[in-house]
Amino acid sequence: MYTVAVVDNFPPVVGGNKGGQRVATDAEIEAAVAMLRAGGLVGFPTETVYGLGADATNPDALRRLFAAKGRPADHPVIVHMADIVQLPEWAREIPRAALQLADAFWPGPLTLILPRAAHVSDLVTGGQDSVGVRVPRHPVAQQLLRAFGGGVAAPSANRFGHISPTRAAHVRAEFDTATVPVVLDGDPPDIGVESTIVDMTGDRPTLLRPGGITPAQLAAILGASLAAPGAASPRAPGTLRSHYAPATPLEIVPSGEIAARAIRLQRQGLSVAALLHTVEPSALTDGVPQAQQRLRWSGSPPDAAYYARRLYERLRVLDRSQSSRILVEAVPTGDEWLAVRDRLRRAATKPNER
Ligand code: TXA
Ligand code: MG
Repeated sequence: MYTVAVVDNFPPVVGGNKGGQRVATDAEIEAAVAMLRAGGLVGFPTETVYGLGADATNPDALRRLFAAKGRPADHPVIVHMADIVQLPEWAREIPRAALQLADAFWPGPLTLILPRAAHVSDLVTGGQDSVGVRVPRHPVAQQLLRAFGGGVAAPSANRFGHISPTRAAHVRAEFDTATVPVVLDGDPPDIGVESTIVDMTGDRPTLLRPGGITPAQLAAILGASLAAPGAASPRAPGTLRSHYAPATPLEIVPSGEIAARAIRLQRQGLSVAALLHTVEPSALTDGVPQAQQRLRWSGSPPDAAYYARRLYERLRVLDRSQSSRILVEAVPTGDEWLAVRDRLRRAATKPNER
């Protein structure tokens, strides 16, 4: 059996800004701000994933952003700002519940959908009457946003449909330097999956995308549970079925079945890359003759926050292992696993695509 060497040097940072984190130099921030002002694109770390930033008031910059991502123009982007005091520049109305959530979770991995202010570009909103806003807490994102002063439109810094980046190197691998001239480097995200998106434009706060903040955390602040998205909810294309997908076919398999599945595939001459959190890797080659063993694996403790933080990086490693299949051990059903389950489900290959 040969095992995959998983890069596991993420600092065990939980809960945000601790001392000693890597920050950008003044010169790096100046170059990034100059690039934004010139209408260019800047990659930067946030506590969720890396963002690809553009000046949210510059239509040329926004068009460049959509072109770089290969993203359809009617998909709205999130406006990032340094501080909640900038919110009235983007939202014409801020419901009390939105303020409560912002107060509790900003800066942090929460995006609020609010009625948009009149000047906000259709390129930002996807032509909708709402705007997504977020105040990230990653120290380098904060440095950039403070120095720039305005709103930065930033989708995840991957091409449309690809796995979201959690390292500066992922961003550089995704875009050439002519397209994205500046990529700020910083400590890896401590959340690792995209922000929770809550739509505040309807009668009840509605969860559009699970993420770093759990529904229970939101409900505790609101004093009421969130609504599930309905037909009238705004479109959140990050919620498309086949998002965040690796190129290798990916199956989610219950813990009790994954060893048998892996063994069967190897006996058929196929190679397997497995993402595990309770099953022992050795079980996946049990009884398979040495010469037929084709297993790479990446393990994780069964801890939702740890798992989420490293999910995209591990999927990338397994995707690059040139295996025939990625098998993911199904994760638990609890609320704290919701965002991970959601991303895995979207990364999974539909049965008719296998
Ligand atoms: O954690 C994050 O949110 C990361 C980092 C970079 O901040 N950004 C991110 O952006 O995930 P993106 O573009 O990959 O996903 C943004 C999601 C999309 O699903 C988009 O449709 C939704 O936010 N969204 C943005 N504005 C919206 C609006 N006005 N109404 C409904 N959905 C909106
Ligand atoms: Mg994205």
